[in-house]
Amino acid sequence: MQKKEEMASLTEINDVWDYYKKDLVEVEDQLRKNLDSKVLLINKASNYILDSGGKRIRPLLMIISSSLFGYTSKEVIILAGIIEFIHTATLLHDDVIDNSDLRRGKKAVRAIWGNQSSILIGDYLYTRALSKTISLEVHEINYSVSQACTSMLEGEVLQFYHNGNINITEEEYLNIIEHKTAALLSAACRLGAIVGGAKEEEKDAISRFGLKLGTAFQVADDTLDYIADKEKLGKSMGKDLNEGKITLPLLHLLRHCDSSDKKKLMVMIETNSFEEKDLHYILTLMREHGSIDYSLGKAKYYIEEAKKELPIFEDSPHKKSLSILADYVATRDY
Ligand code: IPE
Ligand code: IPE
Ligand code: MG
Ligand code: MG
Repeated sequence: MQKKEEMASLTEINDVWDYYKKDLVEVEDQLRKNLDSKVLLINKASNYILDSGGKRIRPLLMIISSSLFGYTSKEVIILAGIIEFIHTATLLHDDVIDNSDLRRGKKAVRAIWGNQSSILIGDYLYTRALSKTISLEVHEINYSVSQACTSMLEGEVLQFYHNGNINITEEEYLNIIEHKTAALLSAACRLGAIVGGAKEEEKDAISRFGLKLGTAFQVADDTLDYIADKEKLGKSMGKDLNEGKITLPLLHLLRHCDSSDKKKLMVMIETNSFEEKDLHYILTLMREHGSIDYSLGKAKYYIEEAKKELPIFEDSPHKKSLSILADYVATRDY
């Protein structure tokens, strides 16, 4: 197919998944290949979470980014597997920290094998990813992967530190999500550019694209936590509130509701006691005060900022795919 025709055939996110299907299937094989531990439980629990779905948005980003620079070799598939392993490790840890029993529409690993297993297997996936990274023997890749891991951990600790803090500012919230989520999406983009042999300014531009996209991705996730269809999302609803996580929709509501509602909200957050009816009450207040629209608007803002990084790249099906992926992130419902 000609480049122009290919570009015209890409109009929505499913076209993008389809376009890179072959590479994504190879990533799946790579992920399973990496699980060669002699410890049965590690392979069993890891296969369980890998088989339970997941959008594979980070591998997809990396594949598109490297393709943008004309590179489509085995190294990208290995790196995409590494990034998805790191992501999977964070999910195993995150579900322990957040006390979540549901992940990807199925029982979380911690709900089957316990918290200790979930943490240890998460550690295994982390270190396996790092040893795979090192085996590529490219200093720039090592640096980028380890930087992303450090940043994610900083974000998680910062989030923990601010747990239940109703005075958290929007700036502090954004700083947390930039570290805990956007850093890895940004690294996925940068790594694609590194193996693609991009110029320094191109690597920086695609990293910024990933960072803004990642920020929008987490803002959307935090909003979906209140409004999504549980079946579609595959996670429990109102989870953030239950855990005392003050995310953007709640932060906005706390700033805009009247003092009696604010008092009620503060008691709920302090005592950490929510029932189904409380979630309903909070969601009604959020809708009334425009907190949901505000958050979705924020996600869209970051997407527009991300897209501003793209004009320096030559038009191609890959550049178009990045743009479609960006739009999907701000409008996704799962
Ligand atoms: C979940 O990430 C954790 C966040 C950063 C919000 P994803 O939404 O990419 O999770 P999967 O891999 O598709 O399940
Ligand atoms: C994402 O935050 C955590 C990671 C970066 C691992 P959340 O806690 O909101 O993720 P979900 O909603 O449980 O997937
Ligand atoms: Mg969580
Ligand atoms: Mg969430």
